[in-house]
Amino acid sequence: MRFTAAAKLFILFGDPVAHSLSPVMQNAALQAAGIDGLYIPWRVQSAGLPAAFESLRGMDNFGGANVTVPHKEQAFALVDSLTPEAAAVGAVNTVMARDGRLLGANTDGLGFLRSLYEEADFLPRGKPSVILGAGGAARAVAVSLAEAGAQPLVIVNRTVERARSLAEFVYRNIGTAATGLALDDPQMPATVRDCALVVNTTSVGLNPADPPPIDPSLLHSTALVYDLIYQPRETVLLREAKRRGCRVLGGLGMLLYQGALAFELWTGHKPSEEVMRQALVAAVA
Ligand code: ATR
Repeated sequence: MRFTAAAKLFILFGDPVAHSLSPVMQNAALQAAGIDGLYIPWRVQSAGLPAAFESLRGMDNFGGANVTVPHKEQAFALVDSLTPEAAAVGAVNTVMARDGRLLGANTDGLGFLRSLYEEADFLPRGKPSVILGAGGAARAVAVSLAEAGAQPLVIVNRTVERARSLAEFVYRNIGTAATGLALDDPQMPATVRDCALVVNTTSVGLNPADPPPIDPSLLHSTALVYDLIYQPRETVLLREAKRRGCRVLGGLGMLLYQGALAFELWTGHKPSEEVMRQALVAAVA
């Protein structure tokens, strides 16, 4: 890669960021598009994020940014304006410069939905869906599923208060009825058995030695089981779900599509998704 003095700078804010595959994917896309630009991680703690964002406002060669764990909600409060998606989710994963001001977007939900449509031919409208987890990733998934018409929507979480609070957020902002349940709620087994889609948004499964986030014997073979985790590519949840005849999808597609949407927002051009996919597959192999 060669850069001129006018190279655009693309930044990933997070803490930690070293594990992220976005730099590998976005630099491959920039290079394939012949863009004089570089995508770099910027590890920053929450206390430093306001100053980091302020520095973007004065950077003439700022190309765009991504925001990852744990800063997406703080970024929402730090930008000057929001796209409708970011406003609905209450979190920002993509930042663009507009006349020296910062516009916050969120491509996670659309990336997730596109992955469902294109990789599994799954249309959420009218489909009973269960979301495992109630953190930042769950929020983007819950809002996008509600907007795509999935119902009923059940959020299952170890800490039941967070599940209930996310369910209320979905109801308040989208108008879709959603319920929050604890992992050990007596209604949980039947809810999982009867649903068409189970999405794991928890971090359980990141470590190959983790147990599955729920008892896999609850899964019905007609369910599509989606795990947002992309490394390992097949989590224990997906492996067990496959054994029970379920269709399964890992998180690589969502990572790719949210990144492709961000690239398009920054540059105005569609990236080569094939190049991005190859870069990701090589990185996780
Ligand atoms: P992210 O932004 O990636 O969603 P997060 O906001 O920290 O990250 O959320 C992590 C999710 O994984 C939460 O739903 C968390 O459950 P709690 O709300 O009870 O903390 C869930 N999680 C993490 N470790 C877990 C574990 N060992 N068992 C069950 N759930 C777990």
